[in-house]
Amino acid sequence: MELAKKLCNAYGPSGREDNIRRMIEAEIGNSCQRMEVDRLGNLIAYVPAKSKDGIKEEKHTKIIFCAHMDEIGLIVTHIDKKGFVRFANVGGLFLGNIVNQRIIFENGTMGIIGVETKAETPKPPRIDNLFIDIHAQDRKEAESKIGIGDIASFYQQAVIANNRMTSKALDDRIGCYCLIETMKLLKENKDDLYFVFTVQEEVGLRGARTSVYGIAPDYAIAVDVTATGDTPECRKMDVGLGKGPAIKVKDAMFLANPVVKDKLVTYAKETDIPYQLEVLERGTTDAAVVQIIREGVLSGVLSIPTRYIHSTNETCDLGDVEGVIKLLVAVGEKGLA
Ligand code: CO
Ligand code: ZN
Repeated sequence: MELAKKLCNAYGPSGREDNIRRMIEAEIGNSCQRMEVDRLGNLIAYVPAKSKDGIKEEKHTKIIFCAHMDEIGLIVTHIDKKGFVRFANVGGLFLGNIVNQRIIFENGTMGIIGVETKAETPKPPRIDNLFIDIHAQDRKEAESKIGIGDIASFYQQAVIANNRMTSKALDDRIGCYCLIETMKLLKENKDDLYFVFTVQEEVGLRGARTSVYGIAPDYAIAVDVTATGDTPECRKMDVGLGKGPAIKVKDAMFLANPVVKDKLVTYAKETDIPYQLEVLERGTTDAAVVQIIREGVLSGVLSIPTRYIHSTNETCDLGDVEGVIKLLVAVGEKGLA
């Protein structure tokens, strides 16, 4: 799990995924025939159909597996006379969650998110009630460290305890980790496989569009985190930590293809992996756009149940992560047709 921790700890908000892409490239070089980076920055690794007798030449079904490299972040909009920094969101920030949290800019500048304490400050605060303190004495000193348009990510070190992992950016580095491990474990595959590490999911599923358009796959499986309904007094949802991978049926922008969904269920049963069916009422993943690219792509999603999503302490169960990897290997080996 050291790799999962390393991926989560690294800096990589939307549009600034280079760092993450380099780490993934270094891991998967030996597990694919070739890698390419498209114009938007998506990393596409190709694993051609192969049996024990070697690579097959005829034309095959194409399956893509995707997970997004980016994480939510904050972007500098203004620096005041005293050196305090105002910001806008990059992706979905829950403003009640982020007060007093640490952040880090690409060049290593650290900051703390503070909140105005006027009596009329709403709860949760609005984004214009928040500021970043980067330990500067005044605007001049602040501007020597960062500028307008610079993007920060949260700063938090991953921890593992009790077979559970807590970190920033589990969404979706844990999905990237699942794809990497699957590539390393796959011995044979009857279809042509594309492992796609996408950019800019958190700002509107942008990388998935260009990468999938270029590949024109028949099938797609996205791997991402999903919410749970297993904490005190939370919104009702029939997904919990430690009960296995969640096979998505529906989210706010996506309906899983029933054939793909049923295949995932069948493989889970055949391989004795516990699983749960997921209906997520708020939020979505790359699969929402993947399914409607070109003439359509038969799509499903494998989700890692995760508590406290879009906070600095997203939490998942490592048994569920293992289950997702096993299911992905089964799909890679047996296909979805
Ligand atoms: Co997200
Ligand atoms: Zn995500």
